[in-house]
Amino acid sequence: MPITTCIFDAYGTLFDVNAAAAQAAAEPAHADLSKVWPALARYWRLKQLQYTWLRAVADQHCDFWQVTQDGLDWAMEANGLSSDTTRARLLELYWELAAYPEVPEMLRALKSAGLATGILSNGSPDMLNAAVSSAEIEDNLDAVLSVEEVGVFKPHARVYDLVGRHFGCAPDQVLFVSSNGWDAAGAAGYGFRTVWVNRAGEPMDRLYAKPHHVLPDLTTIPELV
Ligand code: LAC
Repeated sequence: MPITTCIFDAYGTLFDVNAAAAQAAAEPAHADLSKVWPALARYWRLKQLQYTWLRAVADQHCDFWQVTQDGLDWAMEANGLSSDTTRARLLELYWELAAYPEVPEMLRALKSAGLATGILSNGSPDMLNAAVSSAEIEDNLDAVLSVEEVGVFKPHARVYDLVGRHFGCAPDQVLFVSSNGWDAAGAAGYGFRTVWVNRAGEPMDRLYAKPHHVLPDLTTIPELV
């Protein structure tokens, strides 16, 4: 079946999750971050994701804002950081993460080609709406779907079900794009066509399914569709 609907993961795919730590580290008030910010950003993301998977298997759901704070607290402690001001600034920046530079034009091209577009994310609706509006991409997104509708994190099938339920399309009419290898694999296992955006040149995850395409960034998504 031809692709009718192009769905994007949010954090790390459309929005640069390292931007918060990088930006805070460049501000004089947070000089404590200057040397450790890359490690802090890496551990923050790693723990945030681990907590989503653990809460999903343990049936202990909370929203993504909670795991974002919990992951940051772990990462700050691991890096010897204890400033409440730095913590507050990092969390504030998470609500206005920069989109990757190619995102606005790529979404515009998909809409001009007549495709439906949307986000499917672990993020809570208020976090996602803030990021979308701060990046000024709302005009080229038909839907922003959050796992909060089903109360479990990715890669649970109930999350991927939200796309068909909202757009009325079959899984093989969906191109699902994620920079998270495990999310691209999970979506491929569910039945979507998938793209893994491998910006960091990481090895492929050894999981129960593999993404159909691997790209270095989002620029060529419209051509692929
Ligand atoms: C999301 C996380 C997984 O946006 O990046 O769903």
